[in-house]
Amino acid sequence: MSIIGKELVRLASVDSTNNYAARGVSEGRFGHGTVILANEQTQGRGQWSRQWLTAPGLDLAMSVVLLPERFPAMMQFTLAKAAALAVHDVVAELLRAAGKNVAEVRIKWPNDILVGRSKVSGILIENELQGSFVASSVVGIGLNVDSRGMESDLAATSLRQECGRAMGVEPVLDMMCKRLEWWWQKVYADDGAVSSAYTERLWAKGRFADFTLDGNDFRARPLDVDASGRLIVEEEEGAVRAYGLERLRFKR
Ligand code: BTN
Repeated sequence: MSIIGKELVRLASVDSTNNYAARGVSEGRFGHGTVILANEQTQGRGQWSRQWLTAPGLDLAMSVVLLPERFPAMMQFTLAKAAALAVHDVVAELLRAAGKNVAEVRIKWPNDILVGRSKVSGILIENELQGSFVASSVVGIGLNVDSRGMESDLAATSLRQECGRAMGVEPVLDMMCKRLEWWWQKVYADDGAVSSAYTERLWAKGRFADFTLDGNDFRARPLDVDASGRLIVEEEEGAVRAYGLERLRFKR
């Protein structure tokens, strides 16, 4: 039986579903698998303290509470991989149904979902650690579903723009909970499926891409991620090194 989404908290408006989820977790109100869904976020948050904008009622803004049992903090990037794979699955399934090329759907390290070169979804994962374990994880997912008006922003897209028809947030939410459940089970099976699928779907894998490294322009070829989530790249002169997000970022 599916646990993710069994408890669903629907909010008309909230600052951020991640904030709301974190408050509920700290007060012991939310169990494992609780999903917070907001029609509107007034202070949606993205990575690196950026703002995340969603069109009220048209885009998906949700957070999932995970309460793992004795999950090593050292492996926390596996949670980010599982979340990215779930979102990737949903986007790919909808594009496939619309007769589009699903090879265009990729995971841009660490966990943006792209269609071609345009971002359709972003994920913000906030973990609470207790000693060397992850006590709780709030997986915040923003997915552009039916919003439009992004034509001027070539870096962003929506499911509606890609599939050519309105989707509705509800069916997408349902699919998302199922795929999250699937990949969550895979995390626990610990059979390498999560890592191999993530690597296979990496954007720009094996070809040179533009980054900044410590703020300076840098070109390298993504190969894989290491266990702590650092991106392993081959540099132009052939050296293979791994860098974390504090040093390496894709240029937009
Ligand atoms: C990114 O910068 O790409 C991550 C964006 C994550 C946005 C989602 S929307 C639901 C949840 N609540 C937030 O405030 N942020 C995440």
